[in-house]
Formats: sequence, structure tokens, C-alpha cells
Amino acid sequence: MNEIDEHFRGNDEQPTVNSRFICTANHGFAPYAQEELRRLFGSVKSTVLVAGEVLLVTLPDETISAVDQIKAHAPMFLRHLFPVQFQEEGSSVEAALSRLASFVMNRSELQGQILSVQVRKTNDSHWEESAGALKQAIMDKLADAAFDFAVRGADFVLSLFVAKDFWYAGISRADDNLSDWSGGAVRFQKEEGQVSRAKFKLLEAEAAFGIDFTVFRKALDIGAAPGGWTSFLLERGLQVTAVDPARMDSSVLQSPRLTFLRKNAGEVKFRDSEFDVLVCDMSWSPKQMAKLVTGLLYSLARGGSAIVTVKLMHKKPLALIQDVISSFEQAGMQVQQAKQLFHNRDEITLYMIKYS
Ligand SMILES: C[S@@+](CC[C@H](N)C(=O)[O-])C[C@H]1O[C@@H](n2cnc3c(N)ncnc32)[C@H](O)[C@@H]1O
Repeated sequence: MNEIDEHFRGNDEQPTVNSRFICTANHGFAPYAQEELRRLFGSVKSTVLVAGEVLLVTLPDETISAVDQIKAHAPMFLRHLFPVQFQEEGSSVEAALSRLASFVMNRSELQGQILSVQVRKTNDSHWEESAGALKQAIMDKLADAAFDFAVRGADFVLSLFVAKDFWYAGISRADDNLSDWSGGAVRFQKEEGQVSRAKFKLLEAEAAFGIDFTVFRKALDIGAAPGGWTSFLLERGLQVTAVDPARMDSSVLQSPRLTFLRKNAGEVKFRDSEFDVLVCDMSWSPKQMAKLVTGLLYSLARGGSAIVTVKLMHKKPLALIQDVISSFEQAGMQVQQAKQLFHNRDEITLYMIKYS
């Protein structure tokens, strides 16, 4: 089977429009991504391709409209998706590659455009080499095509997922995939002397939520040790007050723009509206965290931003997140986005603005 006809008739002979997507969430969170889709579309058919992580999903709507609805609702757990417009099953690798190449060559909208090729595969895939080698094999097959290749900032993305001997592919705008990283797996280079991997979370939040940290002047960092987030805020030129009963890394403590309070966040006091940004990555129960942070919101100026991670220690994360969001809303915060970033493990990140 090659290209999939999205229009087919159901048992009642009424025309039914469906679309299929490869959907990806952080490991263990695919059921919540599926639940988000179910709440949006009612009926969602899905097949697990990688347990807890990657699903082949059928939605009862055409591709463009389904993608528009998903984007409009900014899902928390659905990290990445691409439309399945090409499927190959049970063929040799060489035959699958040739058919995929002709599927791509026949897409007239790609003429003169820049294409990014993103390839993922399961461990039991019949392509035994790396995903990178498969990407190169595809690009070699497309060498005579009338378009150029780029890794980032391309006009279109060719996404391929190979599971056993099933090949699923689609061509879409990066923006329609929710992320322009393959599978939404955002990669940052580890820096020499980087204080903690936690820094990647704030770097990813900056990009995902489009936050310009350089416009802020004074930051409060709650649960700051060993200092990855603090080092990020210092690099963006801010004055930082960091609060944590644990030790900060000595490299961070050298900054003259840092005030470190080696205390529990329940014991500190600040002036009203002292800060224009508050961040919190405290490892504590989400309800206790919300209580502590809302108790310190007097120190955040009106219009100020807050970036807070919510640890999902609970069996029902969707209900827990709703409770935490309600606590913040009652305390005068407006949630701009709630999202499980790639660098979030068993947590999500809230981006909020103080409106009163
Ligand atoms: C995940 S670490 C933070 C990592 C940090 N964002 C970084 O980039 O290096 C969580 C921190 O929360 C702190 N923490 C837990 N409960 C706290 C409390 N009640 N008040 C202040 N800090 C707390 C812990 O001591 C720990 O250092």
C-alpha cells in the first residue's frame, strides 16, 4: 500500500473523513496524549508503536482541520505529531526506499523549497542501521529532486517512522508538527562546566514559550540548588535571588548579581513587587509547592512572569494539574501555557503571567 486515501465510506455509506498521525509523548505519557485527543475529537483509534511513547492515531477529521484544532488547544502531553500520507508494509528495504522517494518526488508543492528529513525507528525495525544512516539513504535517493535540504528552518519536513517492516511517512510544515525537532526531542549541547542538566528545562521553556528573559531585571529562583536555572538567569543579564536549603555550585556563587538565601522557601520574606520574574523547580509535592509559591506571589510585580515545574507524583496527573492551575488562578495568575517539555521527566512546566 502506498499513499493513503483519507476519504472512505463507513458502514452507513455516509462519506467519512479520517486522518492518521504518528503521535509522540514523553516516555510513559502517551496515554495522556491520547486522552487529550479523545477530549478534543471524541473518538480516537490508536495503535501502540512504542509502548507509552509513540502511537499511530486515527482522528475523525481531515488532516488540516485536525491539526488546526490540536494547535488551537496547545496539548500538554502530545509532544509531536506528523500526518501519515504514505505507508509501506512488508516490503524489502530497497523497495520501501524507492516507493518513499517517488512519493516525495511527486509532491509538486516541494519544488524549489527546502526540506528537512526526520527519521525515527524502533529497535526491532528491519532497517538495521541507525536512523541517521536511513536519513542519509533517503537523501541520496532524492539527490536529483528540485529541492534543497536543511536540518532546521526548512519549509517542509519529511517525517518517517519505521516500526518493524512498517514505514509511515508524511510531509508537513514544521509548525504543524508542534515541534521542528524530530519527534519533538529537543537537543541542547552540554556546556563545559554546566552546573546541572536541569538548565535544559529552562532553555527549552525559553524556546517553547517564546519568552525573552533579557527584558526582565530581577528574578526569584525558588528551589535553586545546585544552580542550573540561576546560571541561566545570570547569563541572560538578570539580578537573581536564589532560595534553597541545599548548597549552590561554587561557580554560580561567584556572581556579584546573585543573592543566595540558604533557606526553606517557607522562611523567606521579600518586598512587595520586588521581582519581575519568578521561577520554581522545587522538588516537592505539587500541592505544597503551589501553596509555598502562591504565598510568595506578593513579591512578583503585576505583569511579571512565572515559570514553574509541577511534579506529577500522582496517579491522576490531569486532575492534579487542574488543581494546581486553579490554585495559581485564584492567586491572580493567568496560565499562558502548560506543557510537558522534552526535558521534563515526571513533571510539566507552567508558564504564567500575574494579572492582579
Ligand atoms: C530539581 S532541584 C532544582 C534544580 C535547579 N533548578 C537547577 O537548575 O539546578 C530541586 C531543589 O528544590 C529544593 N527544595 C525542595 N524543597 C524546598 C523548599 N521547601 N524550599 C526551597 N527549596 C526546596 C531542593 O533542595 C533541590 O535543591
